[in-house]
Amino acid sequence: MLEKNIDFEKYNQMKEAPENEPERQYYFIAKAKELVKKESERLGRTLTCAVITFGCQMNARDSEKLAGILELAGYELVEEETADFVIYNTCTVRDNANQRVYGRLGNLNSLKKKNPNKKIALCGCMMQEDSVIEKIKQSYSFVNLIFGTHNIYKFAELLVTMLSNDSMIIDIWKDTDKIVEQLPVERKYPFKSGINIMFGCNNFCSYCIVPYVRGRERSRNPKDIIREIEELVADGVVEIMLLGQNVNSYGKNLEEPITFAELLKEIEKIDGLERIRFMTSHPKDLSDELIQVMKESKKICRHLHLPLQSGSSRILKDMNRRYTKESYLELAGKLRKEIPDLSLTTDIIVGFPGETKEDVDETIDVVKKVQYDNAFTFIYSKRTGTPAAAMENQVPEEEVKENFDRLLKVVQETARERVKLLEGQVADALVEEINEHDASLVTGRLSNNTLVHFKGDHSLIGKIVTVTLKECKGFYYLGEMVE
Ligand code: SAH
Ligand code: SF4
Ligand code: F3S
Repeated sequence: MLEKNIDFEKYNQMKEAPENEPERQYYFIAKAKELVKKESERLGRTLTCAVITFGCQMNARDSEKLAGILELAGYELVEEETADFVIYNTCTVRDNANQRVYGRLGNLNSLKKKNPNKKIALCGCMMQEDSVIEKIKQSYSFVNLIFGTHNIYKFAELLVTMLSNDSMIIDIWKDTDKIVEQLPVERKYPFKSGINIMFGCNNFCSYCIVPYVRGRERSRNPKDIIREIEELVADGVVEIMLLGQNVNSYGKNLEEPITFAELLKEIEKIDGLERIRFMTSHPKDLSDELIQVMKESKKICRHLHLPLQSGSSRILKDMNRRYTKESYLELAGKLRKEIPDLSLTTDIIVGFPGETKEDVDETIDVVKKVQYDNAFTFIYSKRTGTPAAAMENQVPEEEVKENFDRLLKVVQETARERVKLLEGQVADALVEEINEHDASLVTGRLSNNTLVHFKGDHSLIGKIVTVTLKECKGFYYLGEMVE
């Protein structure tokens, strides 16, 4: 696995931590390993640790990096919150994400009372908000370590500080221009992986807190991305998901600028890699070049997540999305024409300040015209510090609820029709896991992101197999493997 062959002897013999990254973190992993070993010996058992993710796929990828370090330090990774060390990797995109964290923290406190050795850490997007830190200091003083999104690369160093101190450690940075490569990672799935191609966001959609908690847009060097994918493929990965808040603006701020489409062409050449996915595409930056590359590619999956947010040009303007209903429809039309088997999914917000019933009708009109395979619908959540939070005409809850239900009905109807289109056809599926409800079945993912369940066993996991899509069950298929 990636970067797991660290020479701990070498780092143990050093008197002081090296200044350079990632060597500095390797030094602290070696130190943490000593501390964890000592504690394990004292307790006469292996220490356990759980990393719990609350946010998006980028958040989940960060959790894999934390897990990679913890595993090297000697912790056994588990899922239960009874673990000796629990980390919450938080999200703050909507208020309900925050509320979930506070709710579960109360529970952690009771567990800590039963296990006095227990340590608790909080990190991720929520920690970049001053008001959150204040609240935790006041009401959740049992937390041992708090850090943010910009200094996650120095987790090993913070871990050592936490293990050698009893007081609450808080380290939050306002921003960073740094990208640290070659830190260890522990993947959740052996056969597929997310890969950050960029960090941060420069778009400042008026409702969104992400640019404030994730900082300015920074692209990784294409060479580093290719190297990481090659290592992953050598380690058994067949499907990758390129991650960024707006992948279509990848590479613009690099010393040697390169487009996202060009990056995809380079990735396509990697032998042994079977499938390429990416997330998220901002409609304003989706180029004709990208459409051509997707069309000609054998590896890029037939799925595009293209967040609409609203179908009303007036609301889109207030949201600072920088496209109109008409230009979005034109783009969707072009995609459908050039790549007919492409499935389109989207995100929609209901209840943005000033949104009327008529605005929601416009959104519904777009849903009907585009025919999404799936749409994630969210109720607008006011985020402190964003321009939309200061807008006066916030929509009453009841009205939002009505509009939301109306939209959801159309979204579900159209998605059902779209997904059904493949019934009876034969398609390739990457088998991901044993079915949760019926252990005689496995669950596979089609190129267009639809799930199919069919008879199979463990030996199929991680393999791409051909399946007949027998019966559409609304949003997924029951199928049969073609021998
Ligand atoms: N960078 C991605 C989205 C990241 S956040 C993009 O631009 O598409 C994921 C989704 O959360 C967004 O697409 C949006 O639909 C939703 N979202 C963001 N802020 C929100 C808010 N304040 N209230 C409700 N939904 C929000
Ligand atoms: Fe938020 Fe807009 Fe950036 Fe997406 S593009 S993360 S919605 S500001
Ligand atoms: Fe949430 Fe942060 Fe992702 S706010 S959606 S975890 S970038």
